[in-house]
Amino acid sequence: MCNLIYKTNTNEFHLTNGNLSYILKVLDNGNLGHIYFGKPIKINDSYVNLYRKGRHLTVESEDGVPAGGIKPDFMCEYAQYGTGDYTEGAFQLKQPNGSIVTDFKYMSHEIVKGKPKLMSGKMPATYGNDCQTLVITLVDKLIDVRLVLYYTIFEKYNIITRSAKFINGNADDMKLTRALSASIDFDSADFELLQLDGSWLRERHINISKLRYGSQRVGSSRGASSAIHNPFIALQTPGTTEYSGEIYGFNLVYSGNFTADVEVTPHDLTRVLFGINPYGFEWNLRKGEEFQTPELVMAYSQNGVTEMSQHFHNLYLNNLIRGDWQYKVPPTLINNWEATYFDFTEEKILDIAKAAKEIDIELFVLDDGWFGKRDKDDSSLGDWFPDTAKLPDGIIGLSKKINSIGLKFGLWFEPEMVCPVSKLHEEHPDWVISIPGRHRTLQRTQSVLDFSKKEVVDNIYEQMKKVIDGSAIEYIKWDMNRNITEPMSAFLDADSQGELMHRYILGVYDLYDRLTNEFPNILFESCASGGGRYDPGMLYYAPQTWASDDSDAMERLKIQYGTSLAYPIKSIGAHVSASPNHQVLRNTSINTRANVAYFGTFGYELDATKLSDEDKAMIKKQIKYFKDHAELIHFGDFYRLQSPFIGDGNDVAWMSVSKDKSKAFLGAYQVLGRPNPVYKRLKLKGLDKDAQYKISGVKGVFYGSDLMDVGFYNKVDFGGNNWDIYAPVREENAFEGILGAGDFSSKVFVIEKIK
Ligand code: GLA
Repeated sequence: MCNLIYKTNTNEFHLTNGNLSYILKVLDNGNLGHIYFGKPIKINDSYVNLYRKGRHLTVESEDGVPAGGIKPDFMCEYAQYGTGDYTEGAFQLKQPNGSIVTDFKYMSHEIVKGKPKLMSGKMPATYGNDCQTLVITLVDKLIDVRLVLYYTIFEKYNIITRSAKFINGNADDMKLTRALSASIDFDSADFELLQLDGSWLRERHINISKLRYGSQRVGSSRGASSAIHNPFIALQTPGTTEYSGEIYGFNLVYSGNFTADVEVTPHDLTRVLFGINPYGFEWNLRKGEEFQTPELVMAYSQNGVTEMSQHFHNLYLNNLIRGDWQYKVPPTLINNWEATYFDFTEEKILDIAKAAKEIDIELFVLDDGWFGKRDKDDSSLGDWFPDTAKLPDGIIGLSKKINSIGLKFGLWFEPEMVCPVSKLHEEHPDWVISIPGRHRTLQRTQSVLDFSKKEVVDNIYEQMKKVIDGSAIEYIKWDMNRNITEPMSAFLDADSQGELMHRYILGVYDLYDRLTNEFPNILFESCASGGGRYDPGMLYYAPQTWASDDSDAMERLKIQYGTSLAYPIKSIGAHVSASPNHQVLRNTSINTRANVAYFGTFGYELDATKLSDEDKAMIKKQIKYFKDHAELIHFGDFYRLQSPFIGDGNDVAWMSVSKDKSKAFLGAYQVLGRPNPVYKRLKLKGLDKDAQYKISGVKGVFYGSDLMDVGFYNKVDFGGNNWDIYAPVREENAFEGILGAGDFSSKVFVIEKIK
């Protein structure tokens, strides 16, 4: 392993892997100054040439005494408030005398191979040996508190991760009222802010806006990372495209409340502040205690958005996701939710499973409604024992029956919730997050369990273990269908209520940790009313996330495109559902539905007993086809070609290319049909320019350079009288789809190198 971190005689630290550089410095007064983050810089004796000149966020003390504060020549590194920097800092530490001003000065540093665990493994984080970590310890002697900053640089990815830890050595207790993971200053304000916003059924849509003076922020205060804003933002130079321009991506490895704040000063400096949302947050840093922030992943690319995404994808596939399923293609599943909702019997379930087996599905997932007395969404969450009226032999019996049909068995849980009508609630009404004397806001007739209390987590763990033990569960869908209101815990004293939201998510991680350790063979899929908690924190435990409750193929183009900005294709839960679609009532062909779901985990969410013979035959082909190309799609490099967020968004295309460039899988989609359309070629990416390729369903042989520089025409020709003209094409290409032939058309292509 080569050296990635260099220290100069002038106390500058340079983190570089040849693809990016990050430079910071211990200033003469002991504070940490930021110098640079971006394109790789040559290793040098000093980086004095890179120091900025002129004013920005800070003032220098006039008496010349090197007190606290950053000199104008530097930007801030983990900005602190009150000693010359007038903008908001990365943290706020309330001291016994009421002051929030700190003056942390360099104490020591070490450069370690690999990456120390975050909170001894109690919080999710990237891991690995193919990296080095700079650990800088600072101290504020007046208050005897140490601040430890972690910077990890990976050898092969354009990635730096950061985290901060506070250690209270003081005889007195203190309070952290803000503890962000990082602040990063940029010597420019010439950026656009890219964010992923949405709501239930339309998660992670891309929005881009020009930065303006002052602060602009996204975040969540709902107790989950949320569908409203994903804990991902990027700063890009104006005009950045998928393949050109500079972009910095930031993604928080955390599933709870977050803030991502970008502040631009009138001197055109930009500061990114990212971490746990300080709103409502207060953490007691008692004597001798420590607090560590979640990890912030920062990616950089000078070649546009796709390259940034590929670095996130590779990092998450190799250095975040863990366990037995990390490098395996998941079994093709069928989920009964959209087939039956709550209305099922064991007989119905077994009928669906038998029909599913006939079309080569491998795993049956029983969704909501199997436990307590849950015939609709008004009871029983918290009672994780089977409803024997529906399932006479329980989950153990059902799982055996499913196995004997020849399918694996998977089960839905919503571990963090409780319904007022449930045994659990009767026994433990104080386990609900709520405020005595105040109305408890119910959502979907349910409340949130107080996972800040270990006893609550223990109870749910024991209940789940009991269901799993003895039954043949090989997959768990872990759902979370409401956010937190009236945040208050019956088990925290008045002074500690500000800790609840963070402690809650630590409780969720604890349960995940216990279950994934106890049952390492089980494949977990996280879910929160679809994609309401799609973040790297979840991916650390569950390698895939149900991307959205919207299973419509056209809606999914936007959702999956946006999701792919940070998250690997292998992690995107995607199913073929019935037509007309249950969310938007749109009719799409079974090819188009599959052609979109291929770029994800790929499965089915429909009633297999109601399929036509034609659809059954098609599904068998689809499953085989997906299996043949799944490794390529899940582990290849993903390239976005045409965006649903640009122009009228009518044409969308993306592709996965194998690492050795010998094979590629391309998906192309047209939302609405166009009469007499303009002739336009689609330019591909990632191929070997000197190699020759053939493309499934297309006559001829193409050089990689031709496909990438000139492109190819991938649609059926418009013929005026379409129905007749398309007749032969409808037959020939029926399986892989027909692109250009009307609304919601699509086609996938396999591209193979011939020499
Ligand atoms: C959520 C999930 C769905 C389904 C239902 C069951 O909405 O996102 O996929 O599991 O809950 O209640």
